[in-house]
Amino acid sequence: MLFSWVQNLLTGRDHSDHAAAAEWDRKYGTETDAGVPLDNLTIRHASRQYGERYQASDPRVLRDCVKFIGLAPAGYRFVDLGCGKGRMLIVAAELGFQSCTGVEFADELAAAAARNVAASGFQNIGIVHGDAGAYAFRDEPFVLYMFNPFSRQVMERVRDNLLKLRRANYYIIYKNARERSLFDKMPTLRYLGSPRQHRGLWGTHIWVPRG
Ligand SMILES: C[S@@+](CC[C@H](N)C(=O)[O-])C[C@H]1O[C@@H](n2cnc3c(N)ncnc32)[C@H](O)[C@@H]1O
Repeated sequence: MLFSWVQNLLTGRDHSDHAAAAEWDRKYGTETDAGVPLDNLTIRHASRQYGERYQASDPRVLRDCVKFIGLAPAGYRFVDLGCGKGRMLIVAAELGFQSCTGVEFADELAAAAARNVAASGFQNIGIVHGDAGAYAFRDEPFVLYMFNPFSRQVMERVRDNLLKLRRANYYIIYKNARERSLFDKMPTLRYLGSPRQHRGLWGTHIWVPRG
C-alpha cells in the first residue's frame, strides 16, 4: 500500500505493468521486457561511462503523450535515442508515425532491436547502431523520445545537435527527465507538461516548439 503510494508519487503511472508488457511481446513475437545492465555488453564508444542500463518504457507512455499533445503522428518522424530492444519504435509504428529511427550503442541491444523490429513486421523502422551524441537530426518534423538514456555529458551533445536545426520543428518526450534543465533553457522550446497519468518526479515530460 505504502509502496504503491510512493511509486505513484514518483512515477505517476510510469512504472511498468509487466503482465501487459508480456502480452504485448506475445502479440508481436518480440522480447523487450527484461532489463539489462550495461556492464557486460559490447559498447565501442567513449560515452559508455555516461550510459544508463536498458529498461523498457511502458507502451502507454507514448500513447498517452501523443494524445496529450494532440499530435497527428502521420506528419512526424519518431526518433528514440537509446532505443534498447526497440519497444518504443514498434509502439510508434503502431501509432502511425511516418518513420521510426532508434539509436543504440550496445551491440547486443542493437541486435535485439533489429530482431524485434523484424518480428513486428513494420517496414518503416530503422536502427542506427551508434552513439546518440553523434546523431544528426534531420530538418523535418519529428518527435524525439528518450527514457533516461544517459547523463549530462551526452545530453549536452544532443541539445547542441538540436540547436543546429534551422527551426524547432520537433517535440521532445523525455521520461525520467534527469537532465530536463537543458531543455527548459532552450529558447526554441516551451515546456508543455505531463499527461496526468505520467506526472511525478520520474514521470514523463514534454516540450513543444515555441512557435
Ligand atoms: C532506459 S533504456 C531506454 C530504452 C528505450 N528507449 C525504451 O524506452 O524502451 C536506455 C538505453 O539507452 C542506451 N544508451 C545509453 N547511452 C547511449 C548512447 N550514448 N548512445 C546510444 N544508446 C545509449 C542504453 O544502452 C539503453 O538501451
